[in-house]
Amino acid sequence: MCGIVGYIGREEAAPILLDGLKRLEYRGYDSAGMAVYDPEEGLTVAKAKGRLSVLSELTEGGKTVRGTMGVGHTRWATHGVPSDVNSHPQVSQSGRIAVVHNGIIENYMALKEFLVANGVDFVSETDTEVVAQLIEYFYEGDLLQAVGRVLHRIEGAYALGILCADEPDKVVAVRKDSPLILGYGQDCAYLASDVTAVIRYTREVSYMEDGEIAVLTRGGVRVYNALMQPVVKEHHTVDWDIDAAEKGGYEHFMFKEIMEQPDALRKTISPRIRDGEIVLEGLSLSPEQIRDIRNIHIIACGSSYHVGMVGKYNLEKLLRIPVEVTVASEFRYMDPIVDGRTLAIVISQSGETLDTMAALREARSLGAHILSIVNVVGSSIARESEDVLYTWAGPEIAVATTKAYSTQLVVLDMLGLYFARVLGTVTREEHDRVIGELLTLPDKVARVLTQTEQIQYYASQYFNHDSVFFIGRNLDYAMGLEGSLKLKEISYIHSEAYASGELKHGTISLIEDGTLVVALGTYGPLFEKAMSNILEVKSRGADVLGLTTEDHREQMAQVVDGVITVPETHPMLLPSLSVVPLQLFAYYVALQRGCDIDKPRNLAKSVTVE
Ligand code: F6R
Repeated sequence: MCGIVGYIGREEAAPILLDGLKRLEYRGYDSAGMAVYDPEEGLTVAKAKGRLSVLSELTEGGKTVRGTMGVGHTRWATHGVPSDVNSHPQVSQSGRIAVVHNGIIENYMALKEFLVANGVDFVSETDTEVVAQLIEYFYEGDLLQAVGRVLHRIEGAYALGILCADEPDKVVAVRKDSPLILGYGQDCAYLASDVTAVIRYTREVSYMEDGEIAVLTRGGVRVYNALMQPVVKEHHTVDWDIDAAEKGGYEHFMFKEIMEQPDALRKTISPRIRDGEIVLEGLSLSPEQIRDIRNIHIIACGSSYHVGMVGKYNLEKLLRIPVEVTVASEFRYMDPIVDGRTLAIVISQSGETLDTMAALREARSLGAHILSIVNVVGSSIARESEDVLYTWAGPEIAVATTKAYSTQLVVLDMLGLYFARVLGTVTREEHDRVIGELLTLPDKVARVLTQTEQIQYYASQYFNHDSVFFIGRNLDYAMGLEGSLKLKEISYIHSEAYASGELKHGTISLIEDGTLVVALGTYGPLFEKAMSNILEVKSRGADVLGLTTEDHREQMAQVVDGVITVPETHPMLLPSLSVVPLQLFAYYVALQRGCDIDKPRNLAKSVTVE
């Protein structure tokens, strides 16, 4: 989704803004722009539809836009098509106020009508222009005051970066339901929708809260709450460095992040296992509270939701507590059965997904205890949860999630195992076996990663199929959902995941000569059934690529066209292994098809609109 960068200091702003925007490119966008102020040249705005390189060429790498303070933006169109004029910054009628905006102003139509009736001319189709015009409408020589008045009138979600030509010593920032961080430097300050944009310049940051207004100057940053009372912000030090957010010799972030999984898993698992026991710092629930849980709701979107699907199988088996998994956008409108004895597990890589955040608030208002599994430290979902278990995957840049997914899975497994110990629903022997397997998981994932060549070969065989089915039962079905999403989002091949037993209830009519079916049969107790389903599709002409464990390789190889294996492990951990070949398969298919792997069309890394 959209990205914001702001800077005020002693250096030329434009190159810093362009560099920051470059690091936000992964979020997805269709146009880019910036506004920079210089005492001699006033407020200069440069913006253009298309990639950041277009803006960079337009401004000769920022050289033609002079000034030491400014705001920049990458836009992911919501209101109005991607075009030069709809790009941000949006500027007020007189050209004195420039605004960049992430989010949606829901009541913009009514405000626009009001402004038009008062003689204001609009040039764009955006909701953001309303904000710029409204600030000018209320401006009486004090930007902060004018912004305060506008905030009482706009509804929706927004992160705003604002410049005013009449107050050339400040950048004003506002946040509501859309992330913004403040960065601190020597005689300078930064603003960004994502730490990645400013990590090259500073590691000292604060996270803005909803309703807060910040005034950035060369001498420091002042923050006010919605009542305009000063707020003292906590400063945090970002503990990863710029290398983690760079490609480091790999062609794509996605591939780099797939290869980083053994390390990410090690970092997420090892500190949480001490003397053979799971230790979950960040969990405040007492044993009594855990014993009091009547039902669990797992809430998430996309791949994080698929982690929840795996979680449902594993948690119900381990705990004998009913677990429901719901996509966040449905949860908030479905009148869920939640009360004070409900545990809501909220899963999110970014910690900023708007639907997930809204569902979290709904669950909380109904009395649920909120435990989140989040990757981005200090993100909104993390801050609004009672308990947070972080996945220590490091920054994930590719739009398609890989290492965050894998680390979410193991955190949920460890949570389940911990609860099972408290509830007495797992034997000591079983518990210790899973712990042992968890500790070897990073090495086993590394072993799966040695099969890249073979998977690339299969991708070269099947990359030109129009339609692919992923089938499996139980945990293999949950994995099929993720395998299918990975493939379709980055390769644009239509694919669907089916519980194998469902095929004969309709879908099997779509199987014909040459249809590709990826058949997952890693889950030992149902292996024979998986084999029967493979025969069903084979006898109707499908090409089958099978995925199973090393022990079952031979048996499966007899009936499929190609087979990929994963090492044996405890059944509940199999998804952590089987997801890896599915990620690689999607990656290589997309590579063969010449797709923009790290930035698939129409998608964004952090989905901050409903
Ligand atoms: C798919 C993918 C998305 C995200 C979804 C939720 O590869 O990355 O489906 O999983 O948008 O995002 P988070 O986890 O940030 O809430």
